[in-house]
Amino acid sequence: MCGIIAYNGQDDAIPYLLEGIRNLEYRGYDSFGCAIDSPVGIIIKKDIGRVDDVINKYKIQNFSSNKAIFHTRWATHGGVKTENAHPMIDCMHRIAVAHNGIIENWAELKESLGTHKFISDTDTEVLSHLIEEKLSRGSDIQSAVKDTFNQIKGSSSFIVLDKQSEDLIAVKKGSPLVLGIAKNGNFLSSDVPSFVRHTNKVVYLSDGDMVVLGKRGYTITNLMNRDVNHDVSTVNLSAKHAEKGDYEHFMIKEIMEQLAQMKSLESADFGNVTRAAELVKNAKLVYLIGAGTSYHTALLGAKVLRENGIKSAAVQGQDLITYRNVISEDDVFIVISQSGETADIINAMPLISKNKKIGIINSEGSTLTKDVDIFIPIDAGPEKAVASTKSFTLSSVYVTLIAMFAAGKKEEALRDLKLLNINMYNLLVPSVLSAIDKAAEKIKGLEDVFFLGRDSDYIMALEGALKLKEVSYIHAEAIDAATFKHGPLALISDKTYAVALVSESTRNDTLYNLQEVKARGGNIIGVSDKNENVFDMFIRAQNGGAFGFVTQSIILQLLAYKTSILKGINPDRPKNLAKAVTTK
Ligand code: AGP
Repeated sequence: MCGIIAYNGQDDAIPYLLEGIRNLEYRGYDSFGCAIDSPVGIIIKKDIGRVDDVINKYKIQNFSSNKAIFHTRWATHGGVKTENAHPMIDCMHRIAVAHNGIIENWAELKESLGTHKFISDTDTEVLSHLIEEKLSRGSDIQSAVKDTFNQIKGSSSFIVLDKQSEDLIAVKKGSPLVLGIAKNGNFLSSDVPSFVRHTNKVVYLSDGDMVVLGKRGYTITNLMNRDVNHDVSTVNLSAKHAEKGDYEHFMIKEIMEQLAQMKSLESADFGNVTRAAELVKNAKLVYLIGAGTSYHTALLGAKVLRENGIKSAAVQGQDLITYRNVISEDDVFIVISQSGETADIINAMPLISKNKKIGIINSEGSTLTKDVDIFIPIDAGPEKAVASTKSFTLSSVYVTLIAMFAAGKKEEALRDLKLLNINMYNLLVPSVLSAIDKAAEKIKGLEDVFFLGRDSDYIMALEGALKLKEVSYIHAEAIDAATFKHGPLALISDKTYAVALVSESTRNDTLYNLQEVKARGGNIIGVSDKNENVFDMFIRAQNGGAFGFVTQSIILQLLAYKTSILKGINPDRPKNLAKAVTTK
């Protein structure tokens, strides 16, 4: 995925866009580029590297213009090279295009543009040349963009700067694009936090929308003939939500935010959870779909639903195709996603177009929110670190609530939320923090770490292992403690470390399995409410009640974070990763 932000208005765009693009860097950090409107034509500056490095190299802060587009790239098509950084221009240097998405038919389109001179390896470059081609045949810029949009396949949102037009033209399909309406001009951006300091009035664009962004106003038409809502929404988000504040990294800020977020759930209005529970109760089968961390939430939700007598299955988005012959119209789907943009999930949606869908999604206005019948905003606020933390625990709490409400256990669920907050209060005490530090100190030098647990402890082990992999580059593997004896035990020696999750309901069986590890010389870092003889190191996690997984998860997030810091890695921007995965 990539990040785009553009401004057109009376004010100087550059300070706005510098701030905005730094804010969007979580969406991609391979290269930065910008197109700045000027009296002598379009100024293009682009290069590989982190946003601030490129900005400083080209002294972008010294430019001034009322109209510009900034872009930060995560390479999908074409390597990390200056030529592949956006924006792309046409042969005549009349237009510049910044794009977020994938053009599936780029090869045939490129071939049709035989005489045009391409300088990059990207799919994006066909856009600037296609638009140029249409302009050369007499089209105006709006028709040229519209016809280009109709020609491309895949999910693509892009913004066009034409040096002969006062307007910026943008289209949205698949990848996110929102319109921000400020006092002296307007923004187009991949997300709201990037401009929220200047306005909280937004229009969440829909697929097919074409925006003509003038200096004073805008028009929106839908190129896919959809009847969509273009009302202006007021977002309840302040700039501080999108900033690190006193924290060194977004990841630690987002981990710590969970304490207040879990507390605020105690007074939340669960109207949409109640509606979702009604749907779920009457379903033939409930499927929970997610990817990566959100798939772990799906696994947890499916397990809790089954325990409450509701048939359910967790499926990774890309795997739903294998269920196509068994899905019935009476099945209900719970779609879980932080970004609401994950391609593996979006691509699965046509398979379930006739089914009722509940969305547990963090990003308001995102593609998936428009595709569900009941949208449960988890209200985690912007999650900027690549590794998902607060969205995981909040969405996991929400799936658990749906299952318990559907089973008529609302009171028990609300009581357990209170218990969770008592446990949260005792969670990050000095003894626990220093135990996490010691464990991270041990783990930082290892090449492999196992994460073991049974039942929901195993699901938290899967998530803990994913977090450690993402931000510390250590090979971490979660294995069901009961399955360990079926093969992986062969790997154990006195050099092996396993992080073991133990809770009340799994204690006896898991401890039995841990003895098998211990007997072969393995070392065990226990995460549990009680210290056990089998543990070599111990991190206390009070984990009672239906939401006990939250405290376990926060400890594993902190363990990954601390290990990352000890290894000198920036946990917010791990190599090779992007926050939302919009590729197949
Ligand atoms: C989480 O730490 C990962 N970065 C990744 O697995 C992520 O959860 C996955 O790509 C799904 O994203 P989504 O929740 O935005 O759909």
